Amino acid sequence: MWKIGNIEIEGRVVLAPMAGITSSGYRLFNKRFGVAVFVSEMVSDMGLIYDNKQTETYVKFDKLFPTGLQLFGSSPETMKKAAIIAQKANKNIDFFDVNMGCPVPKVTNSGAGSSLMKNPKLCGDIIRSIKSATSLPVTAKIRLGWDNSSINYLEVIKELEKAGVDAIAIHARTRKELYLGEPHFDLLKDLRSKMSVPLIVSGNIFTLDDAIRAINITGADAVMVARGGMGNPTLIKQIDSYYRHGEKIEPASLKEQIDYCLELADYLIEEKGESLAMRVYRSIAPKFFNGFANCKKYKTRLVTELVSRKSLVGILEEIKKENNIN
Ligand SMILES: Cc1cc2nc3c(=O)[nH]c(=O)nc-3n(C[C@H](O)[C@H](O)[C@H](O)COP(=O)(O)O)c2cc1C
Repeated sequence: MWKIGNIEIEGRVVLAPMAGITSSGYRLFNKRFGVAVFVSEMVSDMGLIYDNKQTETYVKFDKLFPTGLQLFGSSPETMKKAAIIAQKANKNIDFFDVNMGCPVPKVTNSGAGSSLMKNPKLCGDIIRSIKSATSLPVTAKIRLGWDNSSINYLEVIKELEKAGVDAIAIHARTRKELYLGEPHFDLLKDLRSKMSVPLIVSGNIFTLDDAIRAINITGADAVMVARGGMGNPTLIKQIDSYYRHGEKIEPASLKEQIDYCLELADYLIEEKGESLAMRVYRSIAPKFFNGFANCKKYKTRLVTELVSRKSLVGILEEIKKENNIN
């Protein structure tokens, strides 16, 4: 058991924030596989302050315990204001998470996301400011640093701890590395023993062995499942079962993958409506069939032909037929 502030956490899988992916429907679908902590897609402080309608849709979600709302912004004052607005708008927010890792120029050019790491003191001030306005726990998600020559995660962690942060997630890459190449868990050896708050590690968690390795090296309390869980919810179950019961679970069968693929689609349709859900699903649905040799041509069709639930069911039926699944 570990804690985010006063929230007791059982389990070691945190469902990563992923803009455009980890919406409330996506989070709900993944719950039963053993997610211990949920984090929302990132939400702009300015979007909340200026009452942007799209931003509001990210903030409204049903109870799924515990869920963190991730905020991005660059100033302690606006981040505090945004947290107050969000908390009023949705009582189901259990904690706030601050994005200090996003590498996208639109975000970093405004001084937010990973560019915050260039100023460790400011990172601390943002946490302090949000904490002064809410009694909810506040966590941060950082990277190793801006680039190879400015790796400063230890300094940032110390500032965050001084400011009273309740947990820290670290993506073991620099801003410059974006999402490419091997994450550098080797740099984070025994990191947890140098910290006073819980540690969550992120970066290429695609298999149970990846999770075990990341936890063993760093001593982390939990791992974040991000791209590795897209189209493979069983990964969450594998990690959760291993740490809860010492059990190693088999990967999902093709039949199970087909069922999960339709099930997640239905959660997204319920959340977003059919047309938008299917547009989003073109980047998720094909991933359910990674590693199934017979499914190559269907993966392409799931990208190009997905316009409605009916079109999805049609393709899934063809996959079943070709693979003698009924
Ligand atoms: C499409 C996409 C969107 C992401 N959006 C966010 C985000 O909104 N906030 C955040 O902190 N990290 C975001 N991330 C980073 C992930 O949470 C995670 O740290 C990163 O993908 C590394 O893990 P992985 O290599 O296992 O995918 C995003 C990643 C991807 C691929």
